[in-house]
Amino acid sequence: HPIDALIAQLPKTELHLHIEGTLEPELMFALAARNGITLPYADIASLRAAYDFGNLQSFLDLYYAGAGVLQSEQDFYDLTWAYLQRAHADGIVHTEIFFDPQTHTARGIAFASVYHGISRALEAAEAEWGMTSRLIMSFLRHLSEEDGFAVLEQAMPYLSGIDGFGLDSSEAGHPPSKFQRLFARCRQLELPCVAHAGEEGPAAYVCEALELLQVCRIDHGVRSLEDAALVQRLAAERMPLTVCPLSNIKLKVFADLAEHPLRRMLQAGLLAMVNSDDPAYFGGYLADNLLACRRALDLGADEIVQLVRNSFEASWLAPAQKADWQ
Ligand code: HPA
Ligand code: ZN
Repeated sequence: HPIDALIAQLPKTELHLHIEGTLEPELMFALAARNGITLPYADIASLRAAYDFGNLQSFLDLYYAGAGVLQSEQDFYDLTWAYLQRAHADGIVHTEIFFDPQTHTARGIAFASVYHGISRALEAAEAEWGMTSRLIMSFLRHLSEEDGFAVLEQAMPYLSGIDGFGLDSSEAGHPPSKFQRLFARCRQLELPCVAHAGEEGPAAYVCEALELLQVCRIDHGVRSLEDAALVQRLAAERMPLTVCPLSNIKLKVFADLAEHPLRRMLQAGLLAMVNSDDPAYFGGYLADNLLACRRALDLGADEIVQLVRNSFEASWLAPAQKADWQ
């Protein structure tokens, strides 16, 4: 299909990517062997076969267990470098990645090992290909706000290399309001804040993220469409929504990609774009997501270009750098 070549060729940016979600089964087994860990799967094929999720939580259970193979700084470097090579091959020129420090510090891994491993790989990608990046430290919402404050304290020596804060993990029952004080503290540090909202949780959680956490970007946000006034507000404010179509299908947010609201979001004037979320678990990187949406929704070249433009507009690149890619 002619548009598939366009998807491959366009310089792209990715704004919603969990680095722990790029851990491919092959690397998981290699790191398990390196660290003397026995995985509860006989081989790569049986691990992959377990990637059949009923909802967000069933995915998170596997995702946190898989992250247990990540121990040394080198492990985090290898994980990040593998993603960046893949992203470069996909035509990504700028990426904004989440990391979940609490997943690691809770297992006794030093914050420094996580941070230095990831950042060294990001620096190597910029030196090697000029690929730019931002690093977003994400808080786990199934844990307490107090736990969030504790990990923020551990992050303080590394803040010069952290570009923003996020909120992820189990959404239902863990509304943004639970983290109002923590995000107020993050904003005092003068770094931008984002939050997963309206993935499994209701549109009201998107409103809370905007009003109580004062985020400058909503991750997912697909359930915003259930509230017409919210949609108008998001469009008027040009609030970015980092949509992840293959993730939504794998986690049963929508039954089928043909029913995904991506096109309706664009038509409503929303600043939506396509991202891969946890590509090792959801069956596709950024270009795969765009290709799958092109096919399922019959997106035209104009819609693909709009999505890619939206992601540059919503990125944290400086205006001059954005202009270079437009
Ligand atoms: N939602 C919430 N938390 C997550 C996700 C997600 O899609 N991926 C990794 N952590
Ligand atoms: Zn996510």
